Amino acid sequence: MDMNTTFNLTHNMRTDIDVWVAKFPAEQKSSATIAALSIVQKEQGWLSDAMMNAVADYLEMPKSAVYEVATFYSMFNLKPTGKYRIDVCTNVSCMLCGCDKIVEQLENRLGINLGETTQDQRFTLKEVECLAACGGAPAMQIAGHYYEHLTPEKVDIIISEWEKKA
Ligand code: FES
Repeated sequence: MDMNTTFNLTHNMRTDIDVWVAKFPAEQKSSATIAALSIVQKEQGWLSDAMMNAVADYLEMPKSAVYEVATFYSMFNLKPTGKYRIDVCTNVSCMLCGCDKIVEQLENRLGINLGETTQDQRFTLKEVECLAACGGAPAMQIAGHYYEHLTPEKVDIIISEWEKKA
């Protein structure tokens, strides 16, 4: 943990956060929490305690409130991730459509378990709640790209395509 380290928001981060703060009443700066965390993560790749503390200070809100937001939404990375994050949905629709086989295939293909990053730092495999693609279950998302109606065979093809990019 990095409880004792500090992080300074960059000028660009503060400028971008200010755009969001301006959208809300002055006494509701905390409404920009998700946006602010997204801005910091976009530049840093993840959110350390020090980064979340910096957001809390900047938005003049309790650190615990920022942690609550960051831990609630699966889009936030609370530890460093690989270059590409694979979000595999294991919620109800995907579960009923066989996501266990998809998870198994991803784990075998990548040689890691859920929550882990490949040794070459290319992929992080994360289990997430509903991706809002239930009609295409089972579904996953890689670096923001959606893949639906997955089968183990499709998973292999998709991962091979991303390996070529990496
Ligand atoms: S349950 Fe998997 S996308 Fe909705």
